[in-house]
Amino acid sequence: MHWTALVLALGLLAVTVALDNGLMRTPPMGWLAWERFRCNVDCEHDPRNCIRQQLFTDMADRLSEDGWRELGYVYVNIDDCWSSMQRDQRGRLQADSKRFPGGIRRLSRYMHDRGLKLGIYGDMGTHTCGGYPGTPLDKIEVDAQTFAEWEVDMLKLDGCYSNATVQAQGYPRMSKALNATGRPIGYSCSWPAYQGGLPPKVDYSLLAKICNLWRNYGDIQDSWTSVLNIVDWFFDNQEVLIAAAGPGRWNDPDMLIIGDFGLSMEQSRSQMALWAIMAAPLFMSNDLRTISSGARSILQNKMAIRINQDPLGLQGRRILKEKSNIEVFWRPLSNDASALVFFSRRDDMPYRYQTSLSKLNYTTGIYKIYDVFSGRTMILKDLVSFVVSVNPSGVVMWYVSAPAKPRTLSRQFSRDDRLGGFFRGYLANGIPQVFL
Ligand SMILES: *[C@@H]1O[C@H](CO)[C@@H](O)[C@H](O)[C@H]1NC(C)=O
Ligand SMILES: *[C@@H]1O[C@H](CO)[C@@H](O)[C@H](O)[C@H]1NC(C)=O
Repeated sequence: MHWTALVLALGLLAVTVALDNGLMRTPPMGWLAWERFRCNVDCEHDPRNCIRQQLFTDMADRLSEDGWRELGYVYVNIDDCWSSMQRDQRGRLQADSKRFPGGIRRLSRYMHDRGLKLGIYGDMGTHTCGGYPGTPLDKIEVDAQTFAEWEVDMLKLDGCYSNATVQAQGYPRMSKALNATGRPIGYSCSWPAYQGGLPPKVDYSLLAKICNLWRNYGDIQDSWTSVLNIVDWFFDNQEVLIAAAGPGRWNDPDMLIIGDFGLSMEQSRSQMALWAIMAAPLFMSNDLRTISSGARSILQNKMAIRINQDPLGLQGRRILKEKSNIEVFWRPLSNDASALVFFSRRDDMPYRYQTSLSKLNYTTGIYKIYDVFSGRTMILKDLVSFVVSVNPSGVVMWYVSAPAKPRTLSRQFSRDDRLGGFFRGYLANGIPQVFL
């Protein structure tokens, strides 16, 4: 069966309903403190990198002044270790007064003044993972109310120091409590990650009704090994996960670590490409004050973002695992377009992978291809064999337009010298067998 038909069939079968708060109809984008800044509260010795008000206003300044916000990166999210070790006299959570002198309300105002949003972190247990006050069952309503009064826009609710019983009661109850505040607050649930991420323990149709996104699997770390581990888990379990995702309800493979220390440029492009294929939330965890221009251009790649943010919200899949250690991924997009990723797990040299669109289940036709990371375009006929050169641990990513009627396109092609120029450029760069 053709992939499009298969996906449409699955789409009709899955009568999953998303949480009705109107939020996150495309995967949320922004910045999240955890992976890069962890629970660093040593502001005396490391003031620039500790969890405090200024870290978040610094990132907000960068997001709004360096072109991120316009691309969709609007959430600035606090993670663990923001709060005081004690609730206040009325039993409410409060920010650490030394590190957040203006409190959380001041931060949310700072974000909103700049067209950004603020996210906060809590934990469905007695303590957060870092040992700060959690949100036990009897505190759910008061904490939801507190977050709404602070005018936060998103809550990530972790699951340390809780058990399956408490989680099964608490995660849906927080969803109700957030709704009852009347403030739309995006809701990220770590629940499935604490239950192994798979049915029957995890009920994805329930999750879709109560959460906007959920962490399915373990935390990302600053290494390529960690990225590969996450990628393998998500694509090995893709049938279950694809059915769960859609507008307002997303699987979350965790943060982008592009711009940190663990990934080469090739690997950074691979993370960006695969997160776009997965329709994953794009939360960067890096230092936007010092990020390299190379990492920034990958994270700001307009076509990669457009693919990630496609309004249909269909999560993509791995369609081939070759013996050569090349893997091919595909995501259906709106307007009969699609995205393809050729990913090399090799460690020797650029690999010349030969295939054709027909072999990748494309129907008969002529396709216009846009190469996401080189910006080149070309025309490809379904049966024509082509070669892509994929670097070790790198990707080639394509946006593939809807098939055109052969006649119209070939006429347009022969008239359009500019396109011919791109085409020749491509030929000169290692794709020798492409022609109309
Ligand atoms: C609360 O839920 C109702 C019913 O699902 C929905 O119409 C409303 O928009 C929700 N409000 C908020 C703030 O999430
Ligand atoms: C789960 O945690 C709650 C609250 O801490 C506790 O009362 C309950 O006994 C625990 N249940 C199990 C099965 O451990």
